[in-house]
Amino acid sequence: MAVDVDLTVTAGNYRFDGASFAVDTNIWLIGDEHEVLIVDAGFDATSIEAAVDGRDVVGIVCTHAHNDHADAALTLADATGAPVLLHPDDAKLWARVNPGRLPDAELADRQVLTVAGTSVLVLHTPGHTAGSVCLYLPDEGVLFSGDTLLSGGPGMTGDVLSSRSTLLESIHRSLLVLPDETVVHPGHGYDTDLGTERSEPWATAVKGSP
Ligand SMILES: [Fe+2]
Repeated sequence: MAVDVDLTVTAGNYRFDGASFAVDTNIWLIGDEHEVLIVDAGFDATSIEAAVDGRDVVGIVCTHAHNDHADAALTLADATGAPVLLHPDDAKLWARVNPGRLPDAELADRQVLTVAGTSVLVLHTPGHTAGSVCLYLPDEGVLFSGDTLLSGGPGMTGDVLSSRSTLLESIHRSLLVLPDETVVHPGHGYDTDLGTERSEPWATAVKGSP
């Protein structure tokens, strides 16, 4: 692999609709010894900054604006000087979590970011939230899936702004078309790969749906 992928796990409470659940969130750093792209910024900017270890931060991508992925983004941005990047369809969620200050730039489907000489393709995958994105590194065969796809199946869609049918459609259209050997780094829990997920019953149901 031409780039390094580092994992930092942060812990806190995911909150929605007045409820609160303790969760661990995977924070991914993509890069080399000089620069990194941070994927998600939940709960603990200090530990994420420690993982950066003085490298230049080219951007902080929030895969979506749930608080467990985005509530430390602005503190981390101020600490590193890096811009926060979010898909605009999550603007409403973002305003709940980080009121009074917008992200620095908007992500778009098929946009290409670059870090450490590697291309990072933005895939807009609505469903878990309207503005959820995944990041695909074609040269590395790696996918950062946020809460769109976890090990064992799609992310949850219990929030009022989520849609299970839209999530399944996104996974089918944008993720299951990628190679089987693609390694999946999710927003929570363990890594998986697309070949494994493709063979799961839920994915077969996706294939058979209209
Ligand atoms: Fe989420």
